[in-house]
Amino acid sequence: MSVAEVSIADRIKAHYFEQFGRSASGQSPRIFRSPGRINLIGEHTDYNNGFVLPASVDKAVYFVIEPRTDNQVLLHAADLNDTYSFTLDDLSKPDKSWPLYQLGVIDQIQKLGKTIGGFQTTFGGDVPAGAGMSSSAALECCLLFALNEIFDLKLSRWDIVKMGQKVENEFVGLQSGIMDQFASAFGKEESVIRLDCRSLEYEYFPFPMKDYLLVLCDTSVKHSLASSEYNTRRLECEKGVSILQKYDSTIGSLRDAAPELVEQHKEELGDVVYRRCKYMTGEIVRVQEACDLLVAGDLESFGKKMYETHQGLQHDYEVSCPELDFLVDQTIDNSDVLGARMMGGGFGGCTINLVKKDAVDAFESKMKSEYKKQYDIDLPCYRVKITDGTEELAF
Ligand code: GLA
Repeated sequence: MSVAEVSIADRIKAHYFEQFGRSASGQSPRIFRSPGRINLIGEHTDYNNGFVLPASVDKAVYFVIEPRTDNQVLLHAADLNDTYSFTLDDLSKPDKSWPLYQLGVIDQIQKLGKTIGGFQTTFGGDVPAGAGMSSSAALECCLLFALNEIFDLKLSRWDIVKMGQKVENEFVGLQSGIMDQFASAFGKEESVIRLDCRSLEYEYFPFPMKDYLLVLCDTSVKHSLASSEYNTRRLECEKGVSILQKYDSTIGSLRDAAPELVEQHKEELGDVVYRRCKYMTGEIVRVQEACDLLVAGDLESFGKKMYETHQGLQHDYEVSCPELDFLVDQTIDNSDVLGARMMGGGFGGCTINLVKKDAVDAFESKMKSEYKKQYDIDLPCYRVKITDGTEELAF
């Protein structure tokens, strides 16, 4: 863990003792950490059974947690200075949004027929919410991992990933794919992970951070329509599949469709569905090519693929926004930037930039001043380090 991470963990511990005192059950509290994620390339491909290339980073969610002897759950959100409590036999939807994820986690555990007792916890961290870094997946994975440990539920990491995704799909109402929870749970220091979302096979690739850094530029835009548009994209892809299936019955998802097939049926797909399928089938091929470039150490060409992805997300998949496009445009003539694109679900959040290490200061100050001029917003920039995934920390 970095020095900054240690101090956040200590801060959450201090909040816990302030809130709950020394002990509820005679046991000692334990602390767990789950990171946010970046994704180098492969956007919206996960729910189309394609490939993704994420990594877990040095911004994380922490839970300090201890079992109770009753069936009460006491949640304390350190960063919001807010609390919420309920009993395990009443998981009704809360009157505020943040406890939804914790309730969803317990709902999943109960649906699996597993039993937990009451517990008390303080959680918090430094994954910016709504920035496309998957703070909610980090939260779900962290709580699932912690409850698995303290109540000996015998869940595997894959169980945790799939249950976290179901919290989003069934409790929160976002039909998201598996990438975020996977990256948070399976991350490895200094490695990116290529996940085949169809077979769930994955492979770690060392990411060369000697001469380059990954810098996130946070538009600070959180679009309220994001989740409904996200679900719409998923439906549009399914529409494409149902049309293409008429010509090739082996097609079960856009992963199985070649870009050429999409071109052949352009008219029948119609403008919108055609452009969604065009981006998606192209992106699925692109991620595989990008991985080969990474292995070959050709970061210049890898960066070009990042720009191609952004073009597709902006014009064909239409999940970008003017602020993201502006930030990517600012980098195009900058030879210190190898690649840039919007990252995550879109409609706001961050761009990810592959920048020469010795030029990062100049890059950030230029981006900040251009963004301020254009939108009168102070642009947060994050230099990310790739860290291990979900884990228990020594208390
Ligand atoms: C969100 C979803 C992921 C993935 C990305 C886009 O982060 O949670 O499943 O679809 O968007 O790549």
